[in-house]
Amino acid sequence: MTLPTLLRAMPKAELHVHIEGTLEPELIFRLAERNGVVLPYASVEALRAAYAFSDLQSFLDIYYAGASVLLKEADFFEMAWAYFERAAADGVVHAELFFDPQTHTARGVAMETVITGLHRACQRAHAELGISASLILCFLRHLSEEDAFATLEAALPYRHLFIGVGLDSSERGHPPEKFARVFARCRELGLHLVAHAGEEGPAEYVETALDLLKVERVDHGVRSLDKPALVARLAAERVPLTVCPLSNVKLCVYSDMAAHRLPELLAAGVCVTVNSDDPAYFGGYLLDNYRAVFDAHPALGRDAAYALAANSLEASFVPAEQKARWK
Ligand code: HPA
Ligand code: ZN
Repeated sequence: MTLPTLLRAMPKAELHVHIEGTLEPELIFRLAERNGVVLPYASVEALRAAYAFSDLQSFLDIYYAGASVLLKEADFFEMAWAYFERAAADGVVHAELFFDPQTHTARGVAMETVITGLHRACQRAHAELGISASLILCFLRHLSEEDAFATLEAALPYRHLFIGVGLDSSERGHPPEKFARVFARCRELGLHLVAHAGEEGPAEYVETALDLLKVERVDHGVRSLDKPALVARLAAERVPLTVCPLSNVKLCVYSDMAAHRLPELLAAGVCVTVNSDDPAYFGGYLLDNYRAVFDAHPALGRDAAYALAANSLEASFVPAEQKARWK
């Protein structure tokens, strides 16, 4: 089997994908028309042409504008179902989807609408595509901890429909400790805990996410490389990093894919995983991310491919019995 074929064929988990970041421009325009939402872009082409980002915030501004077309349960379902069809084609057997309820509840969309639409797509993905899927509710870190508490409260009637919480949006200036109390509450509730840290923010945010929020995985985490002792800790404690290579290049964390330091993390023994983050905006879904990494780093071979795929299954939040079936 050639390496490109192997990359597709290997059973893989996707652990870092924002479902709102899978909204393709064509679907944005279709939903805008259906829901009577006026977009500040004249066409699909004009919207796509705006996808030139200089940093995280320049992306987030467009990402939140795109999400404004989501109003009905069917919209959330369609968005997630479209993602699952693409994921299945890439060899994804398990997906843990981030969603940003505050982006929707702030526009008057009910929490129930968001969660039940996404959950229905997860159920269908399992039944028709054989993909196991679950939801992780993300708090927007540019908003207050009080707002995060209110969001948690609104989501608790649907506690059985999501497995964990995360932290996303603008990282710099919004350190993990801002959310220490709400994460402590989520921990008491038995939710899994993850957080974006060390994407644009410093390595110290990775440390405080681990020590103060007690996260089980770190989303991105590539800035950990600024602190060799932290990389050694991640490897020793086997803390998974959900790395998003195309995202990192599009948001100028690295100048190009050849400059991406994923191979160093892997060589240091860190449980690195490959993920797509916001595939509709960053130029590719999961398999595109794997291929971009292996194309730009020819020294990575089949062993690295197997290791990355195995890491993704190991780092997932599925029960041990399901992990044993993947072995
Ligand atoms: N970083 C932070 N927040 C996000 C991202 C990201 O890459 N995508 C969607 N929300
Ligand atoms: Zn992300």
